[in-house]
Order: sequence, then C-alpha cells, then structure tokens
Amino acid sequence: MFAIFEPMNPIIAPSMLAADFGNLQRDVEMINNTEAEWLHMDVMDGVFVPNISYGPAIIKTMASYTNKFIDTHLMIVQPERYIKEYADAGTHNLTVHYEACTHLHRTVSAIKESGMQAGVSLNPHTPVHLLSDMINDVDMVLIMSVNPGFGGQKFIANAVNKVSELKELILKNNSNAKIEVDGGVTDQNAGALVNAGADILVAGSFVFKSMDPAATIRNLKNCN
Ligand code: DX5
Ligand code: ZN
Repeated sequence: MFAIFEPMNPIIAPSMLAADFGNLQRDVEMINNTEAEWLHMDVMDGVFVPNISYGPAIIKTMASYTNKFIDTHLMIVQPERYIKEYADAGTHNLTVHYEACTHLHRTVSAIKESGMQAGVSLNPHTPVHLLSDMINDVDMVLIMSVNPGFGGQKFIANAVNKVSELKELILKNNSNAKIEVDGGVTDQNAGALVNAGADILVAGSFVFKSMDPAATIRNLKNCN
C-alpha cells in the first residue's frame, strides 16, 4: 500500500434490480427505512450486456418515492446519448462503462456539466491502470466483481486486488474519487473489500432475498 488509510463504514447501495418489479414503490419505501444511503439503478440495453432492465421513466418513478442518493449504473452502448434523460430522472451519480466510451473524458465532462457526479465502471477484465489519466476527473470508480448483466452471480475474488490497486492510484494522485464495488457482494467478502479501500458496496440479491433486509444492510455497514 502506497499510503495508510483508515477504513470507514461503507455506504450501502441496494440494487433495485433485485427488487420485486411488481412492487417497486413498496420496495423503495422498505429501503427508506434502513441505513442504506444510496439506491443503485441498473440500466441494461441488451447490447452492451445480454439483459434488458429499465430506463429513465422507471428510475424517475422510483426516485419520486425516496430522498436517498440515486446511483445510476449505465450498462449501455453510447451512454453519452442519454445523459440529460438520467439527470432529469433524478440521478445524483451517473456511472458509464470504460468499455462503452470511445471519448471517456468528453462523456465524464458532460455528466458533470449536467449537474451530476460522474462514475466510471471497469469490467472484470479491464485493468485499473487504464484510468490513471482520468483519476482526478472522476467522482467514483465502480469495480465490477461479476460480469455485468445479471444479479445473483458469484463474486470474482480478484476484485479485492483491483480495489487495493485503485486505492493506491487514488492516494498517489490525491484524487477524491470514491470506490464502489458491484456484483456478488455478501457478508463473506464485504470486510475484505472495505479493508482494501471500498467506500460503497452495491448489494442486490443479498439484501432483497434476505429474511430481514434492514438487518442485512446494517451488518454490511459494520463489516470491517
Ligand atoms: C450486475 C449489476 C449489479 C447487480 C448486483 O450487472 O450491475 O448491480 O444488480 O446484483 P447482486 O448483488 O445480486 O450480484
Ligand atoms: Zn450495477
């Protein structure tokens, strides 16, 4: 580790992909009564990833039921075409994929000019060092710990190493970028992720399929 840091309790971002789509209002209101600070919205286009989820209209509806921070994760090609739509839907942080952006600097700048925070996500095969020239321009880096496209997949353990490497890059450059991890997060890997430098943990199935989501969120927050 390049510099010492003190791990804090992570922000928990339940992924609404794992909610009951027939009861989105109920499930957002359920999360409102937990210690989760963020709601994670997964947008999938059937092109960048095999699956299709929901878009700005559904996110706007879900956002209208909460005061929590709306964290939108675009798993779509040409995300620069839809920045305004996601700002209008109530997004606070908009994350695009490194692999989907030919002009990543331009896209990140456009997101910030729209009044949102800007995140960049790396697929499991994409090395952290590719962000070295952008690390002072982004508000967040999202490390994918599964191949994007579906909830409920198995955690890829190498994500912990990537979080350590990213934390070192951030500290070395005095960047304010936060580190988010998404995919297969459970109480089995949350502690290692936070000790490696993760600031935000996304959790879908682990929260929504648990008997007591509020207790599951509380345990994830206190994992380190
Ligand atoms: C995967 C999505 C994730 C997913 C996480 O492509 O980006 O946000 O909803 O779900 P779990 O926690 O079930 O892996
Ligand atoms: Zn996601």
